[in-house]
Amino acid sequence: MTVTFIGHGYVGLVTAAVFADFGNTVYVIGHTKEKIENLKKGIIPIYEPGLEELVKKNVDSGRLIFTLDYKPAISESDIVFIAVGTPTTKTGDADLSAVLAVAEEIGRNLEGYTVVATKSTVPAGTNKKVKRILEETKPEGTEIDYASVPEFLREGSAISDTTNPDRVVIGAESQRARDLLVKLHEPIKAPVILTNFETAELIKYAANAFLALKISYANSIAKLSEALGADALKVLEGIGMDRRIGNMFLSPGPGYGGSCFPKDVKALISIAKDNDYPFSLLEEVENINGQSRRDIVRKARKTLSDLRGKKIGILGLAFKANTDDMRDAPAIDIINLLQNDGAKISAFDPKAMEIAAGVLKNVDYKKDAYQACDGADLVIVLTEWNEFRELDFEKIKSEMKTPNIIDGRNLYDPEEMKARGFTYIGVGR
Ligand code: UGA
Repeated sequence: MTVTFIGHGYVGLVTAAVFADFGNTVYVIGHTKEKIENLKKGIIPIYEPGLEELVKKNVDSGRLIFTLDYKPAISESDIVFIAVGTPTTKTGDADLSAVLAVAEEIGRNLEGYTVVATKSTVPAGTNKKVKRILEETKPEGTEIDYASVPEFLREGSAISDTTNPDRVVIGAESQRARDLLVKLHEPIKAPVILTNFETAELIKYAANAFLALKISYANSIAKLSEALGADALKVLEGIGMDRRIGNMFLSPGPGYGGSCFPKDVKALISIAKDNDYPFSLLEEVENINGQSRRDIVRKARKTLSDLRGKKIGILGLAFKANTDDMRDAPAIDIINLLQNDGAKISAFDPKAMEIAAGVLKNVDYKKDAYQACDGADLVIVLTEWNEFRELDFEKIKSEMKTPNIIDGRNLYDPEEMKARGFTYIGVGR
């Protein structure tokens, strides 16, 4: 098949590369010349394990084509995916301006029969707006079907999530569109849910909000465990063994971040409000998430009494491991609060420091974890990078001013850390 993706962020780029690897001809349309020229050379704008190799391989084979030009791509395509960003507006809604702008461009360049599908996370009802624009702009004699095909990949494991998802969701009205989309997804061995637009769109929001809810629940159990002297990790392991609950997304920590959960929880609250339903459960999920970030700072204040002039080493800045993404990373709020209290921050992250330097000022970025801990009164772990699990703590202890550690991701064994002479504070234990 010939397929086009508009947008080369995480979703667009990864899904395009995977579909090209399945043997389809895939165009990726962008709007910035420099980015498209880099992509043609296999230089990708994000860090995602395995993606650069996959992109290069498929560019070399001629199946993955990056372009600024809508015309040949759209006119040749059986399916066009809209995969542009939907950031949060000041009011908490999803900003649809990019989605609606590309819809116009698609409309003008259509030929013959095409399925236009949204991959971007968009509120229920967006497809109807896209449809209205396309119907107004499409040339005579063309035929369009519409679909919503949400994406469930996670950053850091994006390729395996795309090739091996738990389900494929296809929201489409016409049988012809459904058949084409099912055929495109055939190499993926996963159950397929065929439904209407609105349901497909809501599945995406409901899934992300539920996962965010699980994390806030885990963070609340962690708070309670600290108060009661229980071990939250054992409590959560204990409940996670119940298959009705499941053991994933129950790790307490500094709260969820990234480009999806914070945005999508907000958008679902807003969608509910617009439909006269106050989704207060999700408002509380957000509140707990904010508290989880602040709780790390509260623990730092408690450990050091007064943060003024104290040196704090931060291990990990990205919102999660295996990515360089800093969007809504807990580290941003936490470091800002520590700096407001007068602390001096040094930090190390294996991949995110360049991007972090653009958002976090007055931070002394170091070459490795040991340098970030050197001379520190306190070390705080904020991202669960594997390389932080195997550090030489004898060396770290000898170089720190006082061996205090707040393990925001529960990477270490509390007893072992205490035996090594650290004052150890985890989350929920
Ligand atoms: C999330 C969803 O997991 C994907 O299914 C979805 O496709 C994607 O959003 C999206 O909408 O595009 P992502 O944001 O890449 O993926 O990362 P997650 O692994 O879900 O982590 C999100 C945040 O939750 C991170 O800050 C992570 O540290 C935190 N988290 C996750 C926890 O604090 N505890 C956990 O147990 C799990």
